[in-house]
Amino acid sequence: MSAALVFKGAIIHSESLGSLEILDNATLIVVDGRISALYRAADELPATAIPADAQVHQIPPGEFLIPGFVDTHNHAPQWPMRGLGQGLHILDWLEQVTFPFEARFADAAYAQRTYEQMVEDFLRQGITTASYYSSRHADATKVLAETCAKKGQRAFVGKCNMDRSAPDYLRDTTAADSLGETEQCINHIRGIPGCEKENGEALVKPVITPRFAICCTPELLEGLGKMLKEDSSLAMQTHFNEAQQEIDFTRVLFPEEASKSEADLYEKYGLLNRRSVLAHCTIMTDYDKERLKHLECGVAHCPIANMTVGGGFMVAPRGIKVGLGTDSGGGWASQMLMVIRQTMIASNAQEVMSKGQDKALSLEEVFYLATLGGARVLCLDDQIGSFEVGKQFDAVWVATTTGLHSAMTPREEDDSLRTSFEKYIMTGDDRNVAHVYVRGRRVAGSRTE
Ligand code: GUN
Ligand code: FE
Repeated sequence: MSAALVFKGAIIHSESLGSLEILDNATLIVVDGRISALYRAADELPATAIPADAQVHQIPPGEFLIPGFVDTHNHAPQWPMRGLGQGLHILDWLEQVTFPFEARFADAAYAQRTYEQMVEDFLRQGITTASYYSSRHADATKVLAETCAKKGQRAFVGKCNMDRSAPDYLRDTTAADSLGETEQCINHIRGIPGCEKENGEALVKPVITPRFAICCTPELLEGLGKMLKEDSSLAMQTHFNEAQQEIDFTRVLFPEEASKSEADLYEKYGLLNRRSVLAHCTIMTDYDKERLKHLECGVAHCPIANMTVGGGFMVAPRGIKVGLGTDSGGGWASQMLMVIRQTMIASNAQEVMSKGQDKALSLEEVFYLATLGGARVLCLDDQIGSFEVGKQFDAVWVATTTGLHSAMTPREEDDSLRTSFEKYIMTGDDRNVAHVYVRGRRVAGSRTE
């Protein structure tokens, strides 16, 4: 990679769930895409710290760096159908709206055109990492992974496994076919040029993706569990306790395994471990929570989808790993800022409904979920999610100055950095995203370079 990058100015990132570090005048040095030093104040900076060939960026007042957003749950083929079918219950929405739409991705050329625009859209919003469900089609899945690599988005990409409870035109014909195509996709993704383990971590990685138990025969779940057992580096994602309609039908199909909890069902097939990402989790018993905590699974909280086509409010960041997800199609958002705001609304509502028992989340906590919390869910917190020295430089350069014509509450001269940050998080949009970096490479941004 090119010469060192140096950023001088304001930097904001999470240290933990409740702790946000706000640095007014820091210096951050990036070498080969990785953070090599962070000086927290001007008087900490040694005279010799800045490499001679470094490209130095001065961040002006009112602008700041934050870590890139981590989207832990995203249905790529639903990006072009966001907002459709709102108000339907989940299984009806899948049958009437989603499955017919996802069928379009049998056409790899359509997938190519769509995924190019989609990845650009997510990057423009500052989503530097996404965990994608592809459609069931192997070719489109490969195209999706290649597109992420080409555009420079960090990603997990999984072929969606579904060999039952779906129309013939979208179903994997047999469990064996589904498993064979999954293996093909994994090998393909691991061989994409530029996705080698640069700096110890591949940019785009495969993930095992059984859509949910309703769409998978026991034979398919068993085969996928075996793949995970044989390769401990593989991640897994699925839907979990999303809505009552879904929980009830899961119990019809798996009367014994799921009688107490979907956790027992997925655990039986060897699908739950620290690399498992369970989406939605809106209806959770104490037993469900205890199992997820014990098995170290992560939750992808998708408040927009949960409160439209899904089934409720639940967010449980305390004690379980939690990140945020756009979901993309189930909700209507490609913007993590919308998801952050909806998370706050849902948690406030939950506090009211629980008569004060479930405390609402603070801005600090929700920002953590969108960055470092998401990185933890994806087991990438040693690589991304904050500006700790040694991590990869995945970042958003936020501009809050007037003249951007964004939706943001206007900045006042005497605004503190915390106030500018709050205004951006609560009212900003992609016009405030001046530059987006992944591994130190600029990949998007509203400002011409
Ligand atoms: N459960 C199974 N498939 C899906 C999906 O595509 N979206 C959502 N929100 N839930 C699901
Ligand atoms: Fe989903």
